[in-house]
Amino acid sequence: MLELRETSLAILANTDVQSKVSQLANLFNDYQAGRIVVNLSDKPTSQDLILPGRPNQPELVAPKFVPKRKMDTVEGRAILWHSLAHIEFNAMNLALDAIWRFPNMPKAYYEDWLRVAKEEAYHFSLINAHLQSFGFGYGDFPAHNSLWEMVERTTDSVIARMALVPRTMEARGLDAVPEIRDRFKQIKDERAVEILEIILHDEIGHVLIGNRWFNFLCANEGLSPIVTYRELAEKYRAPTLRGPFNFDAREQAGFTSEELESLESLGDKRAQVA
Ligand SMILES: [Fe+2]
Ligand SMILES: [Fe+2]
Repeated sequence: MLELRETSLAILANTDVQSKVSQLANLFNDYQAGRIVVNLSDKPTSQDLILPGRPNQPELVAPKFVPKRKMDTVEGRAILWHSLAHIEFNAMNLALDAIWRFPNMPKAYYEDWLRVAKEEAYHFSLINAHLQSFGFGYGDFPAHNSLWEMVERTTDSVIARMALVPRTMEARGLDAVPEIRDRFKQIKDERAVEILEIILHDEIGHVLIGNRWFNFLCANEGLSPIVTYRELAEKYRAPTLRGPFNFDAREQAGFTSEELESLESLGDKRAQVA
């Protein structure tokens, strides 16, 4: 019988995008059907693996070298979708990484991240199909890797990973997506709006999972979530939080009122949420 964490590592190392996506869907279905066991205590060996497995394209560059997204040309919009596709590709990888890398978490932790991985693969597929519908595909433009860099910085600590990847990097998506969606609403691109609504909805769930496990780990060690977050953000050089924040989505994603209040001092205004 296949084992969940070892299989997640193998899928993470797969360099072929399409087969990574379909292997992940199969893993999720096989798990649901009771065909996968979970080894909670051992860490699978990643020796000789290059993580994450990724295709030769896109070329990875510093954020300032990613071409500018413009809403008024097809290519400009393709660049925007491409950057979203790359985020989803990395999000799929980061969820797989959360499964294989950190031992001795409750079984529900691995199940939560398996669901995230499956949803990220779905988001990637939606965006890539949309890109292809106007003649582009994943790999056509350079991309930057700041999401994955935060994953790499937190390989030694599950509490830092939960604090800084889902609760920081993915939570920024909650702030950013409504604005992008509204721009597509203005140009009456209904399919784009539909895709972004699905992503926003699912991402609330991902940040919620980050909050669940961050708070679980804090409670286990008798730590204050607010103080611990601040310490971890500094220690691991997390990007500074900047508003406007999507307070409604963040509340649904499980941030406490105390945490939301501490954001209010940073954010200039409440983000518009439809
Ligand atoms: Fe996603
Ligand atoms: Fe996500």
